[in-house]
Amino acid sequence: MFDEVSPRYDLINDVLSVGNSRLWRVAMTKALQPRKGMRILDLAAGTGTASAAIAKHGAHVTAADFSEGMLAEGRIRQAGNDLIDFVWADATQLPFEDDSFDAATISFGLRNVEGPERALAEMFRVVKPGGRVVICEFSRPTSSLMRGPYTAYSRAVLPRIAGLINKSAAEAYRYLNESIEAWPAQDRLAAMLREVGFERVAYRNLTGGIVALHRGFVPREPVEIPTAEPAAKTPARAKSTSKPKVAASKPKAAARTKSPAEPKTAPAKPAPKRTDAPSEEEA
Ligand SMILES: C[S@@+](CC[C@H](N)C(=O)[O-])C[C@H]1O[C@@H](n2cnc3c(N)ncnc32)[C@H](O)[C@@H]1O
Repeated sequence: MFDEVSPRYDLINDVLSVGNSRLWRVAMTKALQPRKGMRILDLAAGTGTASAAIAKHGAHVTAADFSEGMLAEGRIRQAGNDLIDFVWADATQLPFEDDSFDAATISFGLRNVEGPERALAEMFRVVKPGGRVVICEFSRPTSSLMRGPYTAYSRAVLPRIAGLINKSAAEAYRYLNESIEAWPAQDRLAAMLREVGFERVAYRNLTGGIVALHRGFVPREPVEIPTAEPAAKTPARAKSTSKPKVAASKPKAAARTKSPAEPKTAPAKPAPKRTDAPSEEEA
């Protein structure tokens, strides 16, 4: 589907979001806090529009996607930008070593991935301890006054306008709407991040919750998993770099080695209290 819409993907986004997609990218970049010399993974990067915004801050961006059409379009658009590398990769089985990146982000992509928990677990695996992930995704408008008109716009208007710009986009945007309606709301996505092992999870609503920015950090310190038998207590990290790998409910699996395709963790300690409104410097 994305192969087909790739040539006009960015134009359609700008039109349908009435320019808001640009503001959302600014907010995502601010939340990610890219700096010169950092290595950042932009997952489901599509044509690399978010990657370019990140690279402007001097960070090196690996723009990973599994649509050849989107990657090809991205390579044309970002030609000459030495800070961006386009790489074919499936979000659920990333071809990168553990702890390869200082940070990772995914914009409007996680909802499209079959197996979003696996993609989150993979982001957790490839980001260094202390590094952050930022997820920019459609979410639930917080006001009931807004929900009605927004749903009507998404169901009826959006696919028609998209169809005028690109015929195959009408179908794609019907799918987009269905996938948004089926997507977990803000709190549930925050819980998914914690279940994978991220700490200090928080989110911030953009445009009244039409979009939400979630962020979480890979823990710096090893986390002990409490077990029923104290003698068998096993560090949650199977490798020296140390990320929690295992659900507290599965202590016996603690010693297993990393499997890229397998979601690894649940918080070994009680989930931190939700902080829905990260401070400005956080989001
Ligand atoms: C709506 S586009 C978002 C593109 C870009 N991040 C942006 O903000 O404009 C979703 C992207 O997710 C990619 N995608 C979906 N599932 C994927 C997977 N399992 N692995 C890698 N990319 C995936 C699609 O190919 C598509 O390019």
